[in-house]
Amino acid sequence: MGETKRCPGCTGKDPFLEELCKKYEPIKDNLIQMLNEVQEHYGYIPTKAQQVLSEYLKLPMAEIYGVITFYSRFTLKPKGKYNVAVCLGTACFVKGSQKIMDRLKERLKIEAGETTTDGKFSIEETRCVGACGLAPVFTVNGEVYGKATVQKLDQVLDELDKKE
Ligand code: FES
Repeated sequence: MGETKRCPGCTGKDPFLEELCKKYEPIKDNLIQMLNEVQEHYGYIPTKAQQVLSEYLKLPMAEIYGVITFYSRFTLKPKGKYNVAVCLGTACFVKGSQKIMDRLKERLKIEAGETTTDGKFSIEETRCVGACGLAPVFTVNGEVYGKATVQKLDQVLDELDKKE
C-alpha cells in the first residue's frame, strides 16, 4: 500500500516530504492538511514542496499556489527569527492597529509578508487573533502584546534589536 503511494518526486531526496506522501492518500482533499504540515516543518512552503505536492496529488502548480496565497497562515518565504504580526481584524483596526503596522513597516523597511535581509524580523498581517478585548494587538512569535501603541511597538523592537 505504502509502495503504491510513493511519490517519485521526493523519494530518496527529502525525508520529510517522503514521509508526508506516505502518510496521506494522493487525493486533492488532503492538500490543505499537507500544506499545514509543510508550513509547520519548514516555517514556509518551499517551491520544492509545491512541486512534490503537485506531482503527488496530480494538481497544477498554479492551483497549489492559489491555495497557499488564499490562506494567510501559509507563507512562501521563510519568516524572520522574530515574526511580528499586527492584527488588522475589525476590533483592532478601529482602535488604530494600522498605525502600528505603518510604524512597523517604516522601522523595518519591509512590507507585510517580507523578511529583513539579515533574517531577524518579518512582518505579518493577521486577522482576529482572539484577543479583541486587548485591541489593538500585535504578536511576536505568537506572544500577544495588547493595548498596543506605536511607542510600545518601538520599545519591544528596541529590546529585540539588542538581543543577538
Ligand atoms: S480583531 Fe484583533 S484580536 Fe480580534
